[in-house]
Amino acid sequence: MGQSLWFASRGTGLVTALLLTATTVLGAIHAGRVTSARWPRFTLHAVHRNLSLLTLVFLAVHVASAIIDPYAGIAWLDVVVPFVSTYHPFWLGMGAVAFDLILAVVVTSLLRRRIGLWWWRAVHLSAYALWPVAMLHGVGIGGADTRLGWVLALYLACAAAVLVAVVRRLLVRDPDRDARRRAWTS
Ligand code: HEM
Ligand code: HEM
Repeated sequence: MGQSLWFASRGTGLVTALLLTATTVLGAIHAGRVTSARWPRFTLHAVHRNLSLLTLVFLAVHVASAIIDPYAGIAWLDVVVPFVSTYHPFWLGMGAVAFDLILAVVVTSLLRRRIGLWWWRAVHLSAYALWPVAMLHGVGIGGADTRLGWVLALYLACAAAVLVAVVRRLLVRDPDRDARRRAWTS
């Protein structure tokens, strides 16, 4: 199979980073109540949720191809337990932290009605930490690829998109925010 698994892992790593960025940006837009006739809230919600599930699919292929390829000697445990891998322990460890956080965010979202709004929200806000951790993993472990002009441009574009979405999210005062706050604390 040669190097094809290794290339598959790197390619899906970049696609996962892109999808995660799009999911995070849409989440911030959704929470910031940015709507229009073309993009009503329920559409934003559905696209945000579906993109997050697509992110998981690419992440699964990214991780599986990295492990099945014997080159780096990565074990299944390295995927969930940070900093124990023999291959780039720090940068791979960041990937494992991102993996654990993404699972927590998605699973609590699917169980939202059962666990209650407060817990769901507490876990969901960790997405703002998940994004930089995942991107640092990619930049740090990507090595030679990270130095390619188009890969660098891709990371910068992702960072700019998240920055704009987060600033927009922080500046917005939406009319139903106080009502939501009361609902979370009750
Ligand atoms: C990769 C997985 C996911 C990531 C990274 C992510 C990220 C985010 C972010 C950053 C926000 C903005 C939070 C805020 O500023 O208050 C958000 C909001 C939201 N997310 Fe997600 N999310 C993910 C998966 C999901 C899933 C699977 C669902 C539902 C099934 C979901 C439902 C929502 C909802 C309803 C909001 C709006 C909250 C509000 O009204 O304030 N998310 N998401
Ligand atoms: C949300 C989580 C993750 C994201 C967004 C992500 C993204 C990325 C990106 C962008 C790259 C660089 C690709 C390149 O430039 O060639 C990469 C490389 C890599 N990732 Fe991940 N990754 C994540 C989680 C993981 C996990 C849990 C593992 C554990 C097996 C892992 C293993 C690897 C490996 C082995 C490489 C290739 C290193 C090399 O080329 O030397 N990643 N990842």
